Amino acid sequence: MREKQALEIAKQECTALTFNDLRLRTGYSKVMPANVSLKTKFSRNVSLEIPVASAAMDTVTESRLAIELAKLGGIGVIHKNLGPEEQARHVARVKNHLNGRIRTPIRVYEDETIGDILKRREEKEYGFHSFPVISRADSTLVGIITATDFDFCGKEDMPKKALEVMTRGPRTAKSDTTLNDAYGIMREFKIKSLPLVDAQNRVVGMYVLKDVKRIMERSALTYNLDNQQRLRVAAAIGTDKEALERLEKLVAECVDVIVIDTAHGDSEPVYETLKTIKKNHPKLDVVVGNISVGDSAKRLADAGADGIKVGQGPGSICTTRIIAGVGRPQVSAVYDCARATESYEIPICADGGLVNSGDIPIAIACGAYSVMMGSMLAGTEESPGDIVFYKGRQWKRYRGMGSLSAMEQNKGSRDRYLQEESAKDRLVPEGMDGLTPFKGRLETVMHQYVGGLRKGMGYVGAASIEELRDKGEFDRITHAGLAESHPHDIEVTVEAPNYNRGRL
Ligand code: IMP
Repeated sequence: MREKQALEIAKQECTALTFNDLRLRTGYSKVMPANVSLKTKFSRNVSLEIPVASAAMDTVTESRLAIELAKLGGIGVIHKNLGPEEQARHVARVKNHLNGRIRTPIRVYEDETIGDILKRREEKEYGFHSFPVISRADSTLVGIITATDFDFCGKEDMPKKALEVMTRGPRTAKSDTTLNDAYGIMREFKIKSLPLVDAQNRVVGMYVLKDVKRIMERSALTYNLDNQQRLRVAAAIGTDKEALERLEKLVAECVDVIVIDTAHGDSEPVYETLKTIKKNHPKLDVVVGNISVGDSAKRLADAGADGIKVGQGPGSICTTRIIAGVGRPQVSAVYDCARATESYEIPICADGGLVNSGDIPIAIACGAYSVMMGSMLAGTEESPGDIVFYKGRQWKRYRGMGSLSAMEQNKGSRDRYLQEESAKDRLVPEGMDGLTPFKGRLETVMHQYVGGLRKGMGYVGAASIEELRDKGEFDRITHAGLAESHPHDIEVTVEAPNYNRGRL
């Protein structure tokens, strides 16, 4: 990545800049926005189809949003204000959503009743109806129960055993069957589920037609998938006592990335936690944050972080800079950290402070591989929480993880701000609790954000994220320049779907 003159000069003056201080310069371009590649990385081994991650916040990312975001090519970080089991369940929902190949299909025993199976399905919130049936004696496959079998079960069939209802001796395939081959077999024999078995006829996987077809027909072209065709997902942990228990549960559900989510990533408990994770799970990618200084980034890189999250105080709900007097305007923070870790090739994620789509190319041009958004994704249909009516408009709640209410309710929040042991009336919040306009479907919102990024790349003449990081050159702008950038001298009468006046 080239040196950025505007940021270097600011640095010499001990001035730190943020999004509203800069705009990208346009340049000669052969690049059509529709054709740019948005592929990038969230961490050393985890790629993204678009450079967007969703914040690990309880009003932003649970499984519903993480599924939709991964389908659009990004990654969701499941927040940690959930108990360890519940957080792991959210991860499992994302990982099992597509089921290109189900690694450990949920099996039922031959002597379980239909009533019990349906009850378990409801309790565990399984979204599917196909269950391989196995022998109680030696766990070998004896049959399969599918949606069709359940459809023909009336109330009087609830006490019947799986054995009486299942299809016996279903067609199976070997454990190394590829998605392509599975699709061929399913079409040839007109079957919707294909269990995979080992030499002893034990179930070692399964393909389900709906998902296989979706992937084969390439409607999944934008999906962010792991090498087993499952949607990618990340999850946050802290540095508290339960962090390692949480970690094991998340790993058991095949989480792709662990994010050590703290307000100060360059601190001793974070290094200890990173060391332990790397010792116990050397192949698991760990993103660590948050920091805002190049030296901190270098220390984390040396300690083995697979990704670094930058942002201390830029968040829309954040009061850290006001309460503690610390932090750094985000563009300079990202640039400094990216420059310091250039030789490590560890992806930097620019976390917080983005308001409009134009902030994405700016964050990338100053060195980020991806951005993390809170407020820009909160208030979508898929984010947690209900729609609230206030002053004649629809809103959703959006709160900081360090807000008083979040810390009062949740240990996960208190841990992020190092107040795990504090009594409720002694908490010192670092965030606010409020409302954000209801934004509609995530897909619609993301279309605008990604559209803005593509346009920015077209203007700069960057055909890829890598090129934008390298080529993007900035002008520092004045307050007059910023005012000129926004709509002016007009009474706006029609809202645009992609414009937020923000913090003018
Ligand atoms: P936003 O996109 O500007 O809304 O910022 C979201 C980011 O703010 C998150 O990803 C966190 O890094 C950070 N954050 C979340 N909660 C708090 C808080 O209570 N205080 C400070 N920062 C927070």
